[in-house]
Amino acid sequence: MASNVAVIVGSLRRESLNRKMAKALLELAPASLKLGMIEIAALSHYNEDDDQPGQVPQAWADFRGRIKGCDAVIFVTPEYNRSVPGVLKNAIDVGSRPYGQSAWAGKPAAVVSVSPGAIGGFGANHHLRQSLVFLDMPALQQPEMYIGNAAQLFDASGKLTHESTRAFLRKLLDTFAAWIEKTG
Ligand code: FNR
Repeated sequence: MASNVAVIVGSLRRESLNRKMAKALLELAPASLKLGMIEIAALSHYNEDDDQPGQVPQAWADFRGRIKGCDAVIFVTPEYNRSVPGVLKNAIDVGSRPYGQSAWAGKPAAVVSVSPGAIGGFGANHHLRQSLVFLDMPALQQPEMYIGNAAQLFDASGKLTHESTRAFLRKLLDTFAAWIEKTG
């Protein structure tokens, strides 16, 4: 049976390059993976005062439930100031609580960073990996996915047209499917 994989995009921007890349992942997924986006825009800032029985924001509860319903997660993230955008870190924090009930625990993860710059979001990619260690998410190591100069990879409709990047995404997805089998 196919594994359910959550795809989480760390940008809220309408013309987000990361969202376009995530859509390409959905398009290229093999039959063994069922990819679906899980949105983070509705999540308010995490505040433990609100994380009490009977008053947990509905958006937090829904998000936690959706993550728990998945077998694995692919993060597709921009780099902001050499780290992960606050919206993505907030989503990670929301999913990680209440203490002892993390929605992320044990789920295999892959990290794709996408930037119009030359370094391909390396700093964000590795800051995110630091959180994955604590969250106990076995993170795929290879292929590393730092996708730079990303503004040049899509056509006017937002489709990924750069052939070697499409092949690279296919390789990631095939390797990740095997990684889920092994660690999930
Ligand atoms: C950026 N950008 C950026 N790019 C990068 O490669 N390294 C960085 O450290 C930063 N820092 C940064 C901070 C802030 C606050 C913004 C708004 C932007 C540029 C960033 O890569 C670019 O805006 C991307 O297009 C963002 O990704 P989406 O929204 O296109 O997916």
